[in-house]
Amino acid sequence: MNDYITIALPKGKLFDRSASLLARVGWEAEGVSEDSRKLVIANEEKKIRFIITKPVDLPTYVEYGAADIGIIGKDVLREEEKDVYELLDLGFGRCRLMMAVPEAKLRPEMEDYAHLRVATKYPRCAKEFFDAQGIQMDIVKLNGSIELGPLIGLAECIVDIVETGTTIRENKLAEVACIFPSTARLIANPVSFKLKFDRLHGLVEDLQRVLQEEKEGKEGQRK
Ligand code: PRP
Repeated sequence: MNDYITIALPKGKLFDRSASLLARVGWEAEGVSEDSRKLVIANEEKKIRFIITKPVDLPTYVEYGAADIGIIGKDVLREEEKDVYELLDLGFGRCRLMMAVPEAKLRPEMEDYAHLRVATKYPRCAKEFFDAQGIQMDIVKLNGSIELGPLIGLAECIVDIVETGTTIRENKLAEVACIFPSTARLIANPVSFKLKFDRLHGLVEDLQRVLQEEKEGKEGQRK
């Protein structure tokens, strides 16, 4: 299997765009779909295989070399802090990690939020942010539906991803601070990157070219 390249794709919001971008540069396999019951999908001719993982687990597969490369959001990368190379910013999946509170609980200064309970899927990033702000918070890790926290009194504040803003609006939450912006990244296992350099470097160059063409196409449409 060593002459194969294994690519990890994340289930969820980044899946379709990741699979179609790779297909545009010829990295595809029949049956690559988020609902696939098959866990490993190979293209024997091109010597590539795909695995589809939960986003939060994806950097672990790449760190351990179970996948040579993967596509994952910068938000997950920063939270998971795995030993992987970040090869390319793919530009899609744009969102931001932010701190929000119920609209009625907005305060004038950051210090006014000290000692609140914060619900988040990103405890490491949240702690780093609040430490940098010099305020201590009680951080509660949840695995989803973070906005529920303030609604039912589990937490007074959230640190979560905003993409379109619909979820925070619908739950009457107000953004207090943007912690960092995020987009999808191509990552690689450091050893794989050395051993399979030619193919992986070629992939990076092809992706850069396609992304540049898309950008120019969009700019052309605007003119
Ligand atoms: C993410 C995030 C918000 C929502 C933001 O949740 O946690 O809930 O998307 O998107 P919006 O600004 O476009 O409304 P996701 O759908 O990944 O599921 P989760 O609630 O289970 O984390």
